[in-house]
Amino acid sequence: MRKKVVAGNWKMNNTLVETKQLIKGLKKGLKGIKLKDTRVIIAPTYVNLHQAVKKTEKSKIEVAAQNVHQAKNGAFTGEISIDMLSDIGVNVVILGHSERRAYFNETDSALAEKVNTAIGKGFDVIFCFGEQLEDRQANNHFKVVEEQLKNALFALRSEAFKNIILAYEPVWAIGTGQTATAEEAQEMHEFIRGLLAKEYSKDMAEGVSILYGGSVKPKNAEEIFSKPDVDGGLIGGASLKAEDFSAIVKSI
Ligand code: 13P
Repeated sequence: MRKKVVAGNWKMNNTLVETKQLIKGLKKGLKGIKLKDTRVIIAPTYVNLHQAVKKTEKSKIEVAAQNVHQAKNGAFTGEISIDMLSDIGVNVVILGHSERRAYFNETDSALAEKVNTAIGKGFDVIFCFGEQLEDRQANNHFKVVEEQLKNALFALRSEAFKNIILAYEPVWAIGTGQTATAEEAQEMHEFIRGLLAKEYSKDMAEGVSILYGGSVKPKNAEEIFSKPDVDGGLIGGASLKAEDFSAIVKSI
């Protein structure tokens, strides 16, 4: 059985004080919610990861980084390595977010390297991908998603997907309040699972969690999560409020 996952991508938000407050609020909000087969993950900014790990130690909340560099170490000013993350107790990383692709020129081939680096160190990877508005309007969204997955992931062995969580995030739905409908999400997730089955095996495809991301809020989460191929969500804005994020976790 594949796991359900609700992950909060905090992006470039929250100071240390705010990080601690939000974690405190989340712990309170999640109390009493049964999380048997659900992973709850938060991704604060790099500088607050260490404290976030400490503050979540005795809870079900896992902590992820929002990026990692592909090289082991070296002259890469401003970058963070996988060993540095591992050393402070982080073992999940978000890769390929559309903001990293758009503003920091992350390419499919760089992402393939990053995924290798992370998996090589035993990390779980939340791998993001998704089409732009123009792609959907031109009815190219399936093709774009297929290319993104092929280029960054399909050189991996099937085994590696035990550590990969896919996150379909249509760019037009991110931070816009315009979510994909539950049917649009299901249609794409089913397509993605079909691609995995074709490239690897049906068994393997059934085991991979596929999250939806893009304007998930407490009021629409339940409907989106009710779809058979939607295994949870990657949440931006609504993950910054303990009450909203807890409500979203509750609706899985
Ligand atoms: P919003 O939930 O704010 O639309 O952001 C989604 C996202 O980018 C999560 O990675």
